[in-house]
Amino acid sequence: MLASSSTQHPPTLFRLVALLTFLTILVRGDTEIGNNDAARINRRAIVSRFNPTRRSTVNATTPMQVGNGNFAFGTDITSLQTFLPFATMSSWGWKNDSLPTGRTQADVDGYRGVSWKNHGRDVRYDFGGLPDIEAWLRGSPNRVNLGRIGLRFWDVRGRVADVLEGDLEETEQNLDLWTGTLTSRFKFKGDEVEVHVVSDFESDTVAVRLESRLVREGNLGLFVDHPWNEGKEKFSAPFVGLWDVPEKHTTQLAVDGRTATIIHKMVNNYFVTKIGGEHFTIERQSPGKHLYDIRPGAERSRSFSVSVQFSGETSPSDIPKAVPSPSQVVAASKKGWEEYWNLSGFVDLLTGSTDPRAEELQRRIVLSRYLMRVNEAGDSPPQESGLVNNGWIEFDASEIRICLQEISYGAHWALWNNWDVLHRSTSIYSRFLPRAISFAQSQQGWPTGARWPKMTDPSGRSSPGEINNLLIWQQPHPLIFAQYEYRAFPVKETRRKWRDVVKETADWMAEFAWSNATTGRFDLGPPMYPVSEDTSPNATVNPAFELAYWRLGLEIAEEWFRGLGEDVPRSWTEARKNLAPLPVNEDEDGVRTYSVYEGIEASFWTDSKYTSDHPALVGLYGWLPPTDGLELDVAKRTAEKVWTHWNTTNCWGWDFPMLAMSAARNGLQSKAVDFLLHPEFQFDDVGMPIGGARVPTPYFPGAGSLLYAIAMMAKGWDGQGENAPGFPAEGWKVRVEGLNKAL
Ligand SMILES: *[C@@H]1O[C@H](CO)[C@@H](O)[C@H](O)[C@H]1NC(C)=O
Ligand SMILES: *[C@@H]1O[C@H](CO)[C@@H](O)[C@H](O)[C@H]1NC(C)=O
Ligand SMILES: *[C@@H]1O[C@H](CO)[C@@H](O)[C@H](O)[C@H]1NC(C)=O
Ligand SMILES: *[C@@H]1O[C@H](CO)[C@@H](O)[C@H](O)[C@H]1NC(C)=O
Ligand SMILES: *[C@@H]1O[C@H](CO)[C@@H](O)[C@H](O)[C@H]1NC(C)=O
Ligand SMILES: *[C@@H]1O[C@H](CO)[C@@H](O)[C@H](O)[C@H]1NC(C)=O
Repeated sequence: MLASSSTQHPPTLFRLVALLTFLTILVRGDTEIGNNDAARINRRAIVSRFNPTRRSTVNATTPMQVGNGNFAFGTDITSLQTFLPFATMSSWGWKNDSLPTGRTQADVDGYRGVSWKNHGRDVRYDFGGLPDIEAWLRGSPNRVNLGRIGLRFWDVRGRVADVLEGDLEETEQNLDLWTGTLTSRFKFKGDEVEVHVVSDFESDTVAVRLESRLVREGNLGLFVDHPWNEGKEKFSAPFVGLWDVPEKHTTQLAVDGRTATIIHKMVNNYFVTKIGGEHFTIERQSPGKHLYDIRPGAERSRSFSVSVQFSGETSPSDIPKAVPSPSQVVAASKKGWEEYWNLSGFVDLLTGSTDPRAEELQRRIVLSRYLMRVNEAGDSPPQESGLVNNGWIEFDASEIRICLQEISYGAHWALWNNWDVLHRSTSIYSRFLPRAISFAQSQQGWPTGARWPKMTDPSGRSSPGEINNLLIWQQPHPLIFAQYEYRAFPVKETRRKWRDVVKETADWMAEFAWSNATTGRFDLGPPMYPVSEDTSPNATVNPAFELAYWRLGLEIAEEWFRGLGEDVPRSWTEARKNLAPLPVNEDEDGVRTYSVYEGIEASFWTDSKYTSDHPALVGLYGWLPPTDGLELDVAKRTAEKVWTHWNTTNCWGWDFPMLAMSAARNGLQSKAVDFLLHPEFQFDDVGMPIGGARVPTPYFPGAGSLLYAIAMMAKGWDGQGENAPGFPAEGWKVRVEGLNKAL
């Protein structure tokens, strides 16, 4: 299946309200923070200050990229993929592997996984069972590297010259963040070469302009190549796809006037590379390969521009006709990026802060804003390495699909006022709703509701895996998105739009909370995995974070229905009011802290088995607002104990912003900033969030959560003033425009 790459536009009313919001921001200036300096932030100066520059890529594991959220193009030092095959990825380009030997589609459709008991009832999960089918389902469909574009050199006799990065001199690559433009400059045998590359903001097209005497002489052009892709590759980073098995796939070239079309077929899926622009000739380099050389046409000048458009179609008959011209792509990129920088939230830590770390924190913010827009702003919720590669090494499963779990950090789009972007991915909740209902009811036998999977394929089918299938903390996420949308657009239409998703989500939450007749309490689990995926699922009951999140979610759902003027289902209120209390651990000195789950060994604080994964205990008061029954002093002691007892070397990505938010809410602002700049929480030279000890780079939940925490600390949260309550008063001056408060 190839999902269309068209954007689901929010209803006109939302666009109108969004526009009004932005206008208000513009008119008001919306500059805050203990100063009367009403001047608007010079956004362009701050953004441009962090334009990344590289002088070589010999050792690089991350590319510099251009892209638009549904499409991204990763580049080496040439701003193309000349020496290193960084990937060209999309939110729509998927293919299935061939079925395992001897299997048919009926075996896939008949896959049943295993059943585990849930309070005496058999519940069927998508893991276990036939290992070959399970593996196929996990790897299919897989996200495809659409192709590679690089520089091609010819020698004076017109033969292809074998050029290595080391043959180039004075190499320099620069990314202009304000317009989304990559530029490379270098010398080759004394000749200067300049390469400019941009991506369209709408269609999935890159425009390339070469400038050099070598172009006029006919010694410099481009190549495009196409790899084989398969889901069996467990971990394909930094590169994606296989280049040495051309016999497994085919390509076909057709030229029509100034446009060349290459149709790439893998198993049953077609991908299309279309090239347009100035006059050029194109030919396959050698029979059987999928590599084509593009030479500037006969009337050559110093400069040569083409556009290369990628698309995927189920059949070759519906290939798009026109390729946007290079100048159209350049204009679209400039306009798209300027609007993005101009019209969404902005934080300025530079003007007036005396803490020397302001520079690095600002760099992380600016580069994260750029990279999230390129990698994690598509029509489907993103996966963890975005559109850079298919990363994730630890499990048998490549975590290369759509991850609904970390979408929680997609909520940063709400705080930064990027509703157009957020509407794209949150639309999956209505699109996948029928599937989530059938997952809950037909497959698992729950009487009502929709159960949201943690990781899915592009059609919403839950991906096999024991942990994936037994996690529950992704369930309340849509309620948070709905709530943020309502806060920004407090009209009945918002309530109606989300009604069914809210209803089915909360129905399942109330259903999953199991009423224990002996105690009169509602318990969460077993079986289940909590946020920290390191407990025994059949023993895990009433994990602290999930209890609090259930309370918050059900409360939002109840308020939603009251707002709609509908009766609040009794089951929701009953479950919320009777949910088990947060589990508490009391040490020998009588000091009380919250526990990971009810009944966990009292020694868990000193057992590395339980103190090495996500420290969700700090999320109880930090990422989450206080929920019913939360004791603030216990929450604070718990957070402090996490700081001293958790193995932060083993923490990764969003753990650090979560620790920061907890410190901020607990009034420990200096600690909050420390966590955002923790030595184990790093962003590389181009801003890619480094995975850490456990996950590959990039790990974008680290960037999304950084932006969430920054917005919360800078703009505040409910019940807290707006004057950067999460930053220390000393050393920091925080100027804010166009952000929304956190819950
Ligand atoms: C992959 O196969 C499934 C059936 O198992 C089908 O529903 C889906 O559309 C296929 N996807 C692609 C990209 O061909
Ligand atoms: C990376 O660079 C260092 C220092 O220049 C060199 O010693 C090392 O071999 C390089 N590694 C790779 C994989 O190229
Ligand atoms: C959990 O219990 C089920 C039976 O309901 C059993 O099949 C499964 O192996 C148990 N899992 C673990 C990890 O102990
Ligand atoms: C962005 O803002 C700058 C400075 O206010 C302005 O010059 C520019 O025209 C704006 N661009 C767009 C596309 O809104
Ligand atoms: C009900 O809760 C009590 C107290 O926690 C527990 O001992 C009992 O096993 C629970 N009942 C069931 C059927 O799980
Ligand atoms: C902490 O985590 C790191 C990285 O996984 C590991 O090497 C180290 O042994 C752990 N330390 C403890 C005390 O468990």
